[in-house]
Amino acid sequence: MDDTRPDPTAHTAPDYRLGVGGVMVREAWYYALPSHDLARGKTVHRTLLGEPMLIGRDANNNVFAMRDTCPHRGTLLSKGTFDGCEVACPYHGWRFTTDGQCTAIPSQAADQRPQARDVRTETFPIAEHQGNVWVFMGTKGATLPPVPSVPAVGDKFQMHVSMIFDCNIDLAVIGLMDPAHGAFVHRSSLWRTADSIHEKHKAFSPLADSEGLGWRMDRHKASRNSRAYKLFLGGTPETEISYHLPSVRIEHARTPKYNYCGLTACTPITTDRTEVHHVMYWDVPSATLLKPIVRAITKRFLDQDRRAVMMMVEGLAFNPPTMLVQDADTQTRWYYRLKREALAAQAERRPPRNPITPVILTWRS
Ligand code: FES
Ligand SMILES: [Fe+2]
Repeated sequence: MDDTRPDPTAHTAPDYRLGVGGVMVREAWYYALPSHDLARGKTVHRTLLGEPMLIGRDANNNVFAMRDTCPHRGTLLSKGTFDGCEVACPYHGWRFTTDGQCTAIPSQAADQRPQARDVRTETFPIAEHQGNVWVFMGTKGATLPPVPSVPAVGDKFQMHVSMIFDCNIDLAVIGLMDPAHGAFVHRSSLWRTADSIHEKHKAFSPLADSEGLGWRMDRHKASRNSRAYKLFLGGTPETEISYHLPSVRIEHARTPKYNYCGLTACTPITTDRTEVHHVMYWDVPSATLLKPIVRAITKRFLDQDRRAVMMMVEGLAFNPPTMLVQDADTQTRWYYRLKREALAAQAERRPPRNPITPVILTWRS
């Protein structure tokens, strides 16, 4: 079935009840933390996709990620010490280099097994790019896809804000991408008012295969009710938004003079907890003075999304019938459709096929 244009009469139960709901897609880069949260010679614990992760930065400024449970008895290695070269477990002092090799088992006599050389702990591909640290969650030795990247607006972000949503990754992603909630959830005299709702037509196209599974809202003049955008960049900006499975949204707005890029990435902590990261880049000099205000507005905005999603989670606990409408919910359909395709391609060991074709979607918001 081609659901590029959904059947307007279909009151289809969304896929959170059809088998892929909450499933965490692997073989992908996930946002772990902003670079500035990882000082040289330090380690931190994160849980990514239900897996305990020690993320560190060594004395030479290289980042690394290893399973944060000691191969001996499971103690969190991040509770131990790190001297910039080796991680030491706090329980019996086993030591590991940043590539996972054990270098010391203090309790063992020379003729006993195992010796340090027999033991390794799992490490994960990690990348530091544009001020962000990403971890690849997937098969060992897999070909790594490109690290998510924003169009260059300098290589350092201006601001990072994150928030935990107590829901699975799907509800966080579709809650954030939903195009029809702005006037109700983010109502504000500066941003949106309910009576500013008007009909919009936006052209969409699939991402190129080299960009991964996803779609793009083609470059267009920013909508007349996004007043804050215009104040920020001056003039009427042109915007392009792309969505990359599993959970990265990149927005690029530009006027002839200035640029703004926003990167939003959802990382599942567990099946029912998701961390939402929002990273902003801009080259508007005066906006730097406004940073405290921009931070406060961004947090408020994200928290409005979080509360909206949590109200939906409360309702969904009753397992009600639900529906997806034409065309405002098309991106939600696409998200589930691409996720199903990614999972099928992985199971069948073949490259994924992007089912989306260019289309103009219409909705009122
Ligand atoms: S649990 Fe880590 S050394 Fe024993
Ligand atoms: Fe929102």
